[in-house]
Amino acid sequence: MCGIFGIITNQDINIGSIALEAIRKLEYRGYDSCGMVSIENTDLQILKDSGKIDEIHEKLHFDTLNGSIALAHTRWATHGPPTKDNSHPHTDCTGEIAVVHNGIIENFIELKKELISKGHSFKSETDTEIVPHLIEEKLKEGYDFKEAVVEALKKCEGAYALSVCYAKEPNSIIVARKESPLIVGMEEGKTSYCASDIPALLQYTRNCFILEDNEMAILKAGEIEFFDIENSLKKITKQPKHINWDIDAAEKNGYEHFMLKEIFEEPDALRKTLKTSDEEIELFARKLIKADHIYITAAGTSFYASLAGKYIITRFLGKYIQEIECSEFQNKLTGALEKNTVIIAISQSGETVDTIEAIRWAKEVQKDITILAITNIIGSSITRYSDHSIITRAGPEIGVAATKTYVTQVLSLALIALKIAGLRKKLAPVELDKYYDALKSIPEIIEIFLKNNLESIKEIVQNLEKNANYFFLARGISIATAKEGGLKLKEVACRFIEGYSAAHAKHGPISLVREGFPIIFIAPPDKSYERLVGNVMEFKARGGHIISLVVDNDETISEMSDITIRIPQPSTKYYQYFSPITFIPALQLLAYYAALDHNLDPDKPLNLAKTVTVH
Ligand code: F6R
Repeated sequence: MCGIFGIITNQDINIGSIALEAIRKLEYRGYDSCGMVSIENTDLQILKDSGKIDEIHEKLHFDTLNGSIALAHTRWATHGPPTKDNSHPHTDCTGEIAVVHNGIIENFIELKKELISKGHSFKSETDTEIVPHLIEEKLKEGYDFKEAVVEALKKCEGAYALSVCYAKEPNSIIVARKESPLIVGMEEGKTSYCASDIPALLQYTRNCFILEDNEMAILKAGEIEFFDIENSLKKITKQPKHINWDIDAAEKNGYEHFMLKEIFEEPDALRKTLKTSDEEIELFARKLIKADHIYITAAGTSFYASLAGKYIITRFLGKYIQEIECSEFQNKLTGALEKNTVIIAISQSGETVDTIEAIRWAKEVQKDITILAITNIIGSSITRYSDHSIITRAGPEIGVAATKTYVTQVLSLALIALKIAGLRKKLAPVELDKYYDALKSIPEIIEIFLKNNLESIKEIVQNLEKNANYFFLARGISIATAKEGGLKLKEVACRFIEGYSAAHAKHGPISLVREGFPIIFIAPPDKSYERLVGNVMEFKARGGHIISLVVDNDETISEMSDITIRIPQPSTKYYQYFSPITFIPALQLLAYYAALDHNLDPDKPLNLAKTVTVH
């Protein structure tokens, strides 16, 4: 939900081009408008408009911004539609203070009224615009720049990662954070940067400082100071986190889209995640074994990873795990959170506000609780509000639709499940080894699949009716795959889909089926297979156009299907819990090619942003 970037330097470099490159890397956070400000000869130079970054750059030429300081922003509209006036940066009445912001100032209506009554005039409908005006007001009251920002922030309720520059003080950028992600980094003595996310800084530094809530930093060229806003602006020392992601991982590297590249990176992401330290996995496993109550919570794709993971863990843990979508967590559990509870919270970004709110609330109302997080982002908010975290090794995921992070989340949960099986002696050692061998062979299965199936999936997509709606049906663990595969098609190709239990679909959804209605059945050879055969027949009998996902040597469901996609996976029981990982790339590719077929950009689905930091 919006990306911000800032740079201050004493080097002879084109800050406009650097800021442009940075917001391109943050575009996945919002792509309905963008803008930049620099300070030239103590005047703010602002370029901004609605539209995609490259279109705006073509019109306004961001690389014409010179000087030694710039702020930049890419927007996902919340308050006010995507228009030029609502684009960031926003300024005060004097035109000397500029702000870029990610988050929401919740009490902005009341603050705006107060500021209007004091004579301020506003140009936009945004919540952000109150910030430069508040700072202006505080400067008028006699505070210096730093104090004025702090005093202004004291009046703001809500979430912010913001970056401020002031024409009269062109040697510093002030940044502050509350609940929205913000990192800073520098090339010592030369240039300092701030950004919403790591990919924007990776090119310049691998040592990033992650701001915590209520921290502020003052950036000067190649120099950064940190302050605690809540503790009378006391100076603090922070240690940088070393980021070992490949720079290339945040580039398209010859692929047409990040989504396709990231699907192709799944084998590597899985191999790296297979190397998660055994101690971390065991710690999670032991906490779950000891717990009396277990919940698993997340949003969107991460929630579907939870569905698959809870299924695998339950098999070996012998305890019920309740999944609850993060946005309903508090509603469902108010008055019911008991002692000795473990909550597994999953979020690739680690910043989804509803997931964070769920775990923060849980900790507040029940002290005897352990929060275990699975995230892809080191130092993200979720890691701070959790007792223990596992960091998946997917590397940067830029495509808005989650792909490689999903498979690594399910893999992490599968590793915990197998660890539990070992600790609880639920499987003989030989059997357990075979499950581990199966898990370790998954990257290769996906590699073979990707190598041999691109053309056939493209062809399937080309032959599908363009405006069709779809059912994605499955039983057992594959319901997670049906829902996640369906979500991908919905997001990137804008098709209406229903991802549902094949058994339950008879209790209503089947009434929609007519001649040619496309139904995608997820049919790995597990315990649900035989009953799924019956479900396929029911839908076929009503004219359904059956597309099935089966393993290589499948005979029954493939015979009944109009189209078959075969996953090169052995049909032994050792793979039965892992099909959510091996089957999903096929559906991700289907969604990807369907988006292209509809002339849609799969990396930037309509109305979506990768990190959802609003309720
Ligand atoms: C779907 C997608 C979203 C996210 C959801 C949660 O492709 O990306 O549904 O899965 O917004 O995000 P995280 O995992 O960052 O909490």
